[in-house]
Amino acid sequence: MTGFRFNSLFSRLALVLLSSFLLLALMLVWFSRQLDNNFQDEVTQRLHFSLSEHIVHEGPLFKGDEPDPVAVEKAFHNMMILGKGFEFYLLSPTGKVLNYSAPKEKIQRFTLPMTAIHEALSGQARLPLRGPDPRSGDRNKIFSVAPVVMDERLQGYLYIIINGEIYDSLASEVEASGWLPLAMLMLISGALFLLLTTLGLFAWLTRPLSRLSGAISQLQRQGFHAPALQLDSRAPAREIQQLEQAFNTLSQRLQKQYKKVKSVDEMRRELLAHVSHDLRTPLASLQGYLETWMMQHRQGQQPDPTYIDIAHQNAGKIHKMVDQLMELARLESDQVPMQMESVGIAELVQDVLQKYRPAAEAKQVLLDLHPKDPGLQVVADIEKLERVFTNLVDNALRHCQAGDTITVRFVAASDALEVSVSDSGIGIPASDLPHIFDAHYKAANSIRGDSAHSGLGLAITKRLLALHRSQIEVSSQVQQGTEFRFQLQWA
Ligand SMILES: Nc1ncnc2c1ncn2[C@@H]1O[C@H](COP(=O)(O)OP(=O)(O)OP(=O)(O)O)[C@@H](O)[C@H]1O
Ligand SMILES: [Mg+2]
Repeated sequence: MTGFRFNSLFSRLALVLLSSFLLLALMLVWFSRQLDNNFQDEVTQRLHFSLSEHIVHEGPLFKGDEPDPVAVEKAFHNMMILGKGFEFYLLSPTGKVLNYSAPKEKIQRFTLPMTAIHEALSGQARLPLRGPDPRSGDRNKIFSVAPVVMDERLQGYLYIIINGEIYDSLASEVEASGWLPLAMLMLISGALFLLLTTLGLFAWLTRPLSRLSGAISQLQRQGFHAPALQLDSRAPAREIQQLEQAFNTLSQRLQKQYKKVKSVDEMRRELLAHVSHDLRTPLASLQGYLETWMMQHRQGQQPDPTYIDIAHQNAGKIHKMVDQLMELARLESDQVPMQMESVGIAELVQDVLQKYRPAAEAKQVLLDLHPKDPGLQVVADIEKLERVFTNLVDNALRHCQAGDTITVRFVAASDALEVSVSDSGIGIPASDLPHIFDAHYKAANSIRGDSAHSGLGLAITKRLLALHRSQIEVSSQVQQGTEFRFQLQWA
């Protein structure tokens, strides 16, 4: 992780978790306080619910319809002994506060709503039940109440607020001195602890993601030369490892495609340069001879018929070159239809040799085939295989002199048929050997001015054999001869 940024996934996750934790903690504190208050109020109210009733039974609090100040004073005084948490009120039947155990200025309400009091007296009240606190304008508190009855006539109520003002101030003191700071301390340390653990956790979780995004920007910066991402064996999740692996596969594939496109592009450019160069000579020659012929014709001379022959020969060369280029282009494309069948190889080679026999005889070169066994059957695309032999024999014958021999030899191996096409011709210089299968490569031994040959034959041958899942090899010695070898699958 490089620096803490608020828009990073890491910081956002941490913030969200931290704030939700704080919210949850506050809610928990609030709820537990509520629960605690209710529980305490219920217990206290149950304990003191019949307190007022006991006091009413101690003696009369009214004299006629009016409260008896002496009796009330005495009763209130006695009750003080019970504890400071209680506040006493003598109410009229309608809820008027007639007498109280407090300084007058403390009383905020002199008439109380009677609903809670009636509910408490109904005997079906659910505790804690809170009634109006005369010392506050709107607050309700737990209480105990009893009717004051004389000769079956209701004179009023003795109304006792339990946990009165003194209790409240004591409670808030206790709260301020102990409970609240402790709770706050716990909250803050909990939040801090959570912050640290979440930061650690998220750093751990998001580290691979930032590594990955770093690798992607490196890919953007360095193009396809960027090194592969080192897989993290300690990655927190299998999915992240898979993501890293997928990224590597993708970038490798991109690199491969890029290289392929680049090499194809380079090849195309080279091809175009070669094509224009190769075609220029026969085309210029064709044009030249035709123009001379036409000029002679126009001048009323008898045109030389050999000019037409030469023009025709050049047209043939152009035709052959264009054919070869088209063939190579077709073979370079990925979908080349193959018609594999069982082929009698000796017969096929005989046919090719037959084609070259007149030229060979004219050059006094011997064409040979070993063995001539018609039973040798291989699986191949017959047309493509014929092109292979034609190219190889054509090359051999062109680089042989009188007295040389060209031999096609079969050696039956267990898994395949080994084929060699060898000649005792001029051979290929060692420095040229690694390049002769490249398109447009002509070795130093090439016959000068041989513009009919553009160096495509072996490139085509290699590709044709590759389509048969076979690899062509060559060995050669200058002035000794050359041998091409490859294998063919048995039928
Ligand atoms: N049997 C051989 N003996 C000597 N040199 C050879 C032999 N076969 C190929 N070469 C050399 O390899 C080069 C490439 O051969 P390739 O068949 O690709 O082209 P090419 O014969 O010159 O032209 P194309 O086949 O297009 O007519 C040739 O120019 C020649 O120099
Ligand atoms: Mg050739």
